[in-house]
Amino acid sequence: MRHFLDLASCSTDELHELINLALRLKSEWRDGGNEPLLRGKTLGMIFQKPSLRTRVSFEMGMRHLGGDALMLGPQEIGLGVRESVPDVARVLSRYVQGIMARVYDHKDVAALAEHSRVPVINGLSDDYHPCQALADILTIRESFGRLEGLKLAFVGDGNNVAASVALACAHFGISFSIATPEGYEMKAPIRKQALEIADRNGNSIDMQTRPQLAVAEADVVYTDTWVSMGQEAEAAERADEFGAFQVNAGLLEHAKQTAIIMHCLPAHRGDEITDEVMDGARSRIFQQAENRMHAQKAILARLLA
Ligand code: CP
Ligand code: NVA
Repeated sequence: MRHFLDLASCSTDELHELINLALRLKSEWRDGGNEPLLRGKTLGMIFQKPSLRTRVSFEMGMRHLGGDALMLGPQEIGLGVRESVPDVARVLSRYVQGIMARVYDHKDVAALAEHSRVPVINGLSDDYHPCQALADILTIRESFGRLEGLKLAFVGDGNNVAASVALACAHFGISFSIATPEGYEMKAPIRKQALEIADRNGNSIDMQTRPQLAVAEADVVYTDTWVSMGQEAEAAERADEFGAFQVNAGLLEHAKQTAIIMHCLPAHRGDEITDEVMDGARSRIFQQAENRMHAQKAILARLLA
């Protein structure tokens, strides 16, 4: 593993190793602090879109491991506008020991990787959010003590987060069922990637248009915003189309009574999820946010140490 761009290009074994490393680094940190595995190393962080979790969890993760992080916002770099993406990669990778990038077009983070001398991590693109999904697997593992044989239901937009969660489930032996409004399904090539991995690992992926069917017998119910970054102009239309896809107490009656609730955040309370569910005893949403830092430390240690 040289870069961390999407979960389809990682092997199942590599991902298991990352989860085990994340668990170890998390308990080490809680017991007093991590070893300075990344002393003298800096992560360059390119953001074309806003962020709370990704920005802060990567920066804190680097500091905990004895390294440093450099924030490069949209105004500073003008990725692909002021300068070509390959040239940014060629220059930046002479200054820093790793690059994390949050972009619109997935091709941009792939091009950074292609032309960089140092490892590149995808901190969200329009197609994938692999760091989120890895942290989510850590959260599910902590909640149930196991992964294999569980069922995760995703309700909402078949976008970047759904895609990476589907791929993660396929790798880790979790059955994945997704309910989206028509026209908002996962992209066909990503569906194919997830189906191939799931087939290899003997678990299932299915697509529904009724949330009640997707959540039946689910151990985990997951949702994401109806309006992702860059889709703001479609907000009104999406509110209409997604109205029946809210994760609320009524929908959860169809899932297992022990089901946990997940959301990558930021949430639009009252739209895709109610306050009652988000703040309820079964919500693991803020644990997920914390686990971004622990899971990413494993990625950083694996790629940069
Ligand atoms: N979940 C997530 O990636 O959050 P941010 O957009 O705040 O980084
Ligand atoms: N699907 C959302 C995830 C945010 C972390 C977006 O792309 O905006």
